[in-house]
Amino acid sequence: MLHKKLKPFPKDFLWGASTSAYQVEGANLTDGKGPSCQDVKQVPEGTSPLDVCADQYHRCIEYYNNVINECLKYNIVPLVTMFHFDMPAALDKRGSWSNPESVDWFVNFAKVMFENYGDRVKYWLTINEQNMLTLVGPVIGTLCIPEGCTNILKETYQQNHHMLVAQAKAMALCHEMLPGAKIGPAPNISLIYPNSNKPEDTIAAQNMNAIRNWLYLDMAVYGKYNNLVWSYLEENDAVPEFHEGDAEALANGHPDFIGFNYYSTGTVEASDGTEVAGGDQQNSRGLPGVAHNVKNPNLMKTEFGWEIDPIGFRNTLREVYSRYRLPIVITENGLGAYDTLTEDGKVHDPYRITYLREHIKQMREAITDDVEMMGYCPWSAIDLISTHEGMKKRYGFIYVDRDEFDLKTLDRYRKDSFYWYKKVIATNGEDLSDL
Ligand code: BG6
Repeated sequence: MLHKKLKPFPKDFLWGASTSAYQVEGANLTDGKGPSCQDVKQVPEGTSPLDVCADQYHRCIEYYNNVINECLKYNIVPLVTMFHFDMPAALDKRGSWSNPESVDWFVNFAKVMFENYGDRVKYWLTINEQNMLTLVGPVIGTLCIPEGCTNILKETYQQNHHMLVAQAKAMALCHEMLPGAKIGPAPNISLIYPNSNKPEDTIAAQNMNAIRNWLYLDMAVYGKYNNLVWSYLEENDAVPEFHEGDAEALANGHPDFIGFNYYSTGTVEASDGTEVAGGDQQNSRGLPGVAHNVKNPNLMKTEFGWEIDPIGFRNTLREVYSRYRLPIVITENGLGAYDTLTEDGKVHDPYRITYLREHIKQMREAITDDVEMMGYCPWSAIDLISTHEGMKKRYGFIYVDRDEFDLKTLDRYRKDSFYWYKKVIATNGEDLSDL
């Protein structure tokens, strides 16, 4: 559809920016907190201590209350993600998500958060990128497979099942405890294209879309396993076991909106059965018998080799909305790059501005397509430690003066993109021009 006139962003559109606890806070053993799986596994290997990160925790005493109160003071609406890749190490030892009790651990955790912050937090996201935990757990330091396990795929999907039940119960609890609040999932969703018009490439793309994307949203919204995924799990002897009450819990959890992270699309062709599972989301070879990943020659890449596809963002928004008809908030979208701090304390990052501008333009096209958008939170508010490429890969609007191993001053500097995004927010997305 070529639109003649673009609709404006909604009046109450939420312009934000995201971070995650374990990637910015530091203070990993402070105030009674124990280590998480990330402290134990240290991915990327050798990354300078997670006890510092961007040193965010020490800058706000009574951390979470202060962050929330400070946001509210400036009319910033906090959106809280409950779990972002950091299972407590003590629970990892008890089997992590493999343990059926993990459902109760998560629901209790949700209850504590609703009790303590529910008076001020109105938007909640459950589990960040559950699909990446399931598909590329070893790359991001989250997968915990109990010793002696002989069917890793089955175990992984059993963990995934526990997360889905935990999420559904947390959504129901949120509605019970906080009637005015809204809650939704936060997977990483990106449309998978067929590499050609060969019908078998479309089958491969459908398979991959189901396994990578729709499984998670179908479960969150309808409480039902996607049929293509179920068939894949059956074929691979990896069907998860339902415990008593699971089906009912899944049917009773309803999101109020869909949150998702978007970085890029994928492209696949028919599987020849020889693919080896593994790699990160950009470098995986595909799934044996499901789809074969290929590079898309029509797309540019970031300095870190991630394909850039703003139009794919519109494609993905259109597809998600037409499948689920729930408002959408983008919980992550951004460019990882090498940034340089100049002697006069500036960071010139036109590449980041270009990336965000092109994505925001496509979001507006999607709004004009009648996709109901609630908000957009780029990744990330401030520089943080990338999941597997360390501090050198920066995403923030705010530069943190530290290197991979040298903690330097930890001072903060606003990048050019900070001032640019400030203008975007002030004009509610109307002015995307350079500064
Ligand atoms: C998302 C994660 O997958 O992508 C973030 O939720 C992560 O935690 C972001 O930082 C970018 O990925 P990476 O690997 O470049 O840090």
